[in-house]
Amino acid sequence: MNEVKFFFNQTGGERIPLEMHKAKMVQRLHLLPVDERQAAIENAGFNTFLLKNRDVFLDMLTDSGVNAMSDEQYAALLRADDSYAGSETFYRLEAELSKMFGKKYFLPAHQGRACEHILAKTLVKPGQAVIMNFHFTTTKAHITLLGGKVIELLTDEGLKVESDIAFKGDMDIEKLKSTVQALGKENIAFIRVEAGTNLIGGQPVSVKNMREVSQICKANGITSVFDASLLSDNLYFIKTREQGYENTEISDITREIASLFDIVYFSARKLGCVRGGGILTSNDELHIAMRELVTLYEGFLTYGGMSVKEMEALAVGLREALDFNVIEQTPIFVEALTNELRKFGVPTVLPAGGLGCHIDAKRFLEHIPQSEYPAGALAAAIYLVGGIRGMERGTLSEQRNDDGSEHFAEMELVRLALPKRVFTLSHIKFVADRVAWLYRNRHLIGGLEFVDEPSILRFFFGRLRAKNDWHIRLTEAFKRDFGESL
Ligand code: F0G
Repeated sequence: MNEVKFFFNQTGGERIPLEMHKAKMVQRLHLLPVDERQAAIENAGFNTFLLKNRDVFLDMLTDSGVNAMSDEQYAALLRADDSYAGSETFYRLEAELSKMFGKKYFLPAHQGRACEHILAKTLVKPGQAVIMNFHFTTTKAHITLLGGKVIELLTDEGLKVESDIAFKGDMDIEKLKSTVQALGKENIAFIRVEAGTNLIGGQPVSVKNMREVSQICKANGITSVFDASLLSDNLYFIKTREQGYENTEISDITREIASLFDIVYFSARKLGCVRGGGILTSNDELHIAMRELVTLYEGFLTYGGMSVKEMEALAVGLREALDFNVIEQTPIFVEALTNELRKFGVPTVLPAGGLGCHIDAKRFLEHIPQSEYPAGALAAAIYLVGGIRGMERGTLSEQRNDDGSEHFAEMELVRLALPKRVFTLSHIKFVADRVAWLYRNRHLIGGLEFVDEPSILRFFFGRLRAKNDWHIRLTEAFKRDFGESL
């Protein structure tokens, strides 16, 4: 039985997520005093990507490559067959992937964006469109670098920050039909569905919707691509929310999904809890075209830029990703953090999704215009008050338009990612408490402006400053309320 592991404590009636694992190894954490945090965020140009991890207490930047591996995965590291070509590890991983997704070929790559590079190079010609439910930053960058353009066809409901729709990641099928007709298949490089739609708050896609997208692709002879990086969370939501799948095995749902797409790719930094990536297909022509690029850009076909040890651990991690006790962990903790924040009135994406808790910076900071990057300012302020490192997922994470004007994001979010099996319930409570304090003092937070703005993926390296030094007043208010407490 796949029963979600929440329990209600008898005294408080609180819904508490239950870990189905225990810690066997731990890492020491440090919480710097607030003055040192203020200096650290200034030195980082108010960009949480540029903070040093030694200055961070709870690293909720991402789940990418920082999920906790299982004891079985660590054991697998030692078993790896280290060789340049033909390693046994490759064949073991290939067999696991073929069982899981039912595809003929597996091409390894060093991470998810490397797969996107290869896919874009193979499929995108200048002027062509790539249609998708929603973009991911690196996906879009690879497509646009090659002269392609991205068209997002999420349903209108998916773009509402708060909603009670179960599958906000679904594509609008009517819009898809009319767009395909209007563009013509020769002008569409491929259609991409992203599981656990990252930038709208880790929101799932239903199998029903994927089936409809797949039918349109087949009827029009358009290549279909599935980004399975966030598949684990998506499988949890299919299992718990989609009618007709309550009693279907996770492994059967996975194979059904994979059968709907010509190509499946994934970041193993997310799916499988290691570091790497992979592309799967049963199409001979696509396989040959992509194979050449893997050897050119990634490495020989039996390692593709990955460490062989990671590949061995991936084979185990993928098996574990089909276990309900494993895949439920992120969503139930995201739900717990979301519920805790909402108790204090903090606006968040609803329903709670996978990956992390997403705070709505537009509503949190109604006084800051999008041109002053409210989500960036909120991420910096959250670090300041708790040493908590989240990630801006708003206008800063967008590229400017061709004419240099800002492209304002649909949503201004701060993501507090919950890497799998890393944080405890007391960490969750600490985060909620500090963010709640910040919410009460939100009028003290101001906007940001660029000091140094890179032209591509500016959110990684861009440096900003706090307008009118608002961060200094925020630190003073913090000290008034918290005294000598960290
Ligand atoms: N696709 C999705 C849906 C992703 O979330 C990511 C990465 C990628 C592709 C690229 O994979 O990092 O291995 O190159 N997401 C990370 C994040 C970076 O923090 O959400 P990668």
